[in-house]
Formats: sequence, C-alpha cells, structure tokens
Amino acid sequence: MKIAIINGPNLNLLGKREPEIYGSLTFSEYFKELQKKFPQIEFTYYQSNIEGELIDKLHQFGFDYQGIILNAAAYTHTSVGIGDAVKGIESTVVEVHISNVHAREYFRQHSFISPNAKGVIFGFGLKGYDLAVQSFINN
Ligand code: DQA
Repeated sequence: MKIAIINGPNLNLLGKREPEIYGSLTFSEYFKELQKKFPQIEFTYYQSNIEGELIDKLHQFGFDYQGIILNAAAYTHTSVGIGDAVKGIESTVVEVHISNVHAREYFRQHSFISPNAKGVIFGFGLKGYDLAVQSFINN
C-alpha cells in the first residue's frame, strides 16, 4: 500500500517550534520510526510552506496513492483551495493535527479539509500519524 504524508507550513520546524505544543522530535526522526514500524507500507513524505505546492502534490499523489495523511497546518483553517483539492482527488485523505486544535484558539476550530476527509485525528502528538496509518491498514 502506498501512503503519502503531506505536511503544511511551519511543520519543517518540528523539534524546534513551540516544543511544549508540538514536542521535541523532528519529523525526519519520527518518520524513520514510522517506516520501521510499518515496513509493509511504501511511504512518501512531502512538506511545503507554500499553499499552491501543497495543492500540486495532492493532485500528483491523489490519483495514485491509496492513502494520503494530510496535516495542512495553518492552511487547514484558511484554504478553500486545499479543501477543494482534497474533494477533487481519488485517494482517501485522513486529516491529522498534532495538537488538540479544539482546545486552542477559536480560529483553529474550523477546517476546510474535514468535510472531504475520511476522518480527523488530533491531539495525540506525532502518534496521530501512526493512528492514521492504522486506519488505512484496518480498512
Ligand atoms: C497543527 C494545528 C494548526 O492549527 C497549526 O496552525 C499548525 C499545526 C497541528 O498539527 O497541531 O501549524 O496543524
């Protein structure tokens, strides 16, 4: 099974950025562990701080990969374009957030991704990506 993980803006700073919210592990450290944990999955990882690049990757992966795990970060709350891209592709998309967005500022409680995602996982730290992978395996 091919699964793509797409991370949005500022998630390249994981490990350094607000560690009290996002933890102290970098995504590449975490990604190595994830690959070891699920050797049967062919993973691809992509991160960008640019909205249009995230849309282009959704188009590229979205007709080829069985699963996409998307943490659109701040664009979750603002981007009609990313929401439309998720709606327009064939791959099943699971939305992930590291933090509990509903326990934070009010503006983080709206998502343009959720209406077109299969499901949403938030508040479990980086483990949320593991849970998203499990959701594809269990289906
Ligand atoms: C985030 C939550 C977003 O509100 C925030 O803008 C992020 C990260 C999360 O993973 O918890 O950058 O998507």
